[in-house]
Amino acid sequence: MANQDDQFKKVVSHAKEYGYVFQSSEIYDGLSAVYDYAQNGVELKKNIRDYWWKAMVQMHENIVGLDAAIFMHPTTWKASGHIDAFNDPLIDNKDSKKRYRADVLIEDYVGKLDAKIEKEVTKAQKRFGDAFDKEQFLATNPRVLGYKEKGEAILKRMGQSLENEDLADVKALIEELEIVCPLSGSKNWTDVKQFNLMFGTKLGASADTAMDLYLRPETAQGIFVNFLNVQKTGRMKIPFGIAQTGKAFRNEIVARQFIFRMREFEQMEMQFFVRPGTQKEWYEEWKQTRLKWHLSLGMGAENYRFHDHEKLAHYADAAADIEFKFPFGFKELEGIHSRTDFDLSSHEKYSGKKLQYFDPEINERYVPYVVETSIGLDRMFLAVFSNSLQEEALENGTTRTVLKLPAVLAPTKAAVLPLVKKDGLPEIARQIVDELKWDFNVDYDEKDAVGRRYRRQDAAGTPFCITVDHDTLKDQSVTIRYRDTMEQQRVKISELKEIIKKEVDVKNWLMKM
Ligand code: GAP
Repeated sequence: MANQDDQFKKVVSHAKEYGYVFQSSEIYDGLSAVYDYAQNGVELKKNIRDYWWKAMVQMHENIVGLDAAIFMHPTTWKASGHIDAFNDPLIDNKDSKKRYRADVLIEDYVGKLDAKIEKEVTKAQKRFGDAFDKEQFLATNPRVLGYKEKGEAILKRMGQSLENEDLADVKALIEELEIVCPLSGSKNWTDVKQFNLMFGTKLGASADTAMDLYLRPETAQGIFVNFLNVQKTGRMKIPFGIAQTGKAFRNEIVARQFIFRMREFEQMEMQFFVRPGTQKEWYEEWKQTRLKWHLSLGMGAENYRFHDHEKLAHYADAAADIEFKFPFGFKELEGIHSRTDFDLSSHEKYSGKKLQYFDPEINERYVPYVVETSIGLDRMFLAVFSNSLQEEALENGTTRTVLKLPAVLAPTKAAVLPLVKKDGLPEIARQIVDELKWDFNVDYDEKDAVGRRYRRQDAAGTPFCITVDHDTLKDQSVTIRYRDTMEQQRVKISELKEIIKKEVDVKNWLMKM
């Protein structure tokens, strides 16, 4: 656990030191769970968003984009169920006066059981060496099976209690598991209560006429209320999708773990409208498609798993998370939800407007069913960033810190380095920058010895360094150094663009799907 904490602390401090993520309003001691993306962070975030948009919108003839406003008519949230049901179960510790999400306390307890399983695996791996069969061990070891069974039973009971609004049982579960407050160490808990997560604000100047508004807690509703406008003006035929990226706001109580759980964050959502009765097939299809998108980035298949929901949200008939192995364990990265016709039917009811589709293939009019894919951009940023940050032991006994971002997502694709600051080398380096910058974000760096510059670019996540030396003056060749392997090659300046393009081209990455 201490190791996980250390690793996570490194992620947070590296993100600051290399201009990726800053605490919001830091000079005023910051605002909890609100963050700003700095010069490199904004580029990484944009590249992740583009990678998603290209895969979802550009590559699908039947998916189109939308950019709906953050403010929506307040009845939207009555219809969507957020006013009545968008709650978290909260519990206070009477000694520390600290407030927790009851479900998170229980999930953390189960997370510790998962950590125990991992420990058993590591121990057995050491004991059996090459003969170790992890699959078999996980399926047969009595201690592992015991932890697994216990964890599953706890989550099942919690899911059922939350589903039935039986908050007394959620408290009873916390007491039975003897969960203590991480701050005070005491088991002196209040009852569990529900708390609505939406931020309210007002529209209008005078107090009497002002209208109560909410900052949207998800982007999805902007898609639902525009469903018919888009379908008609785009002459879309079912099945089709509408995709959107944008800010969402939630008054999270357990706001910790850096950009994992924020109060202001960005979502990338897609609602796929299908004929009723076909939703199960589309749900399975989108689960697989979205997993493949993640795998295309090459961050290790072992770092992903599906978690099928026991407790379904008020709108869903099936739901799963794609979980990722963050430095603090496997946690939700993306949700895939079969939302039935709940949202559209509810908006029909509250607006009095029909939101139906005439299906010429079966000669029927109906309210479409919806399968949604929903991923937090900031959470994806954290997955990419934390997975990429590595300390590598080198052959010469030193270590290097390297941010092995997938090249397609890296903020700066190449740094151009004159070996020395004289003899015309900076001028050639500048010319290379001027040529490459039409296609890529490139950096010019002449300060310090070249070895230090390599390390600096490794830590910032730049996939290529291009070094201009005295031979360049003679033969127009430069050294290109690959961040991940540290391999160096001599190439012609005229070849640089193609070499870099091949490595960072979205097509080459998405083709791996
Ligand atoms: N429209 C469905 C929806 O909003 P959700 O599971 O509440 O579903 C979808 O959220 C995704 O949004 C999550 O999988 C997560 O990646 C991201 N997300 C949710 N709350 C977040 C928060 N407070 N901070 C950062 N990301 C968040």
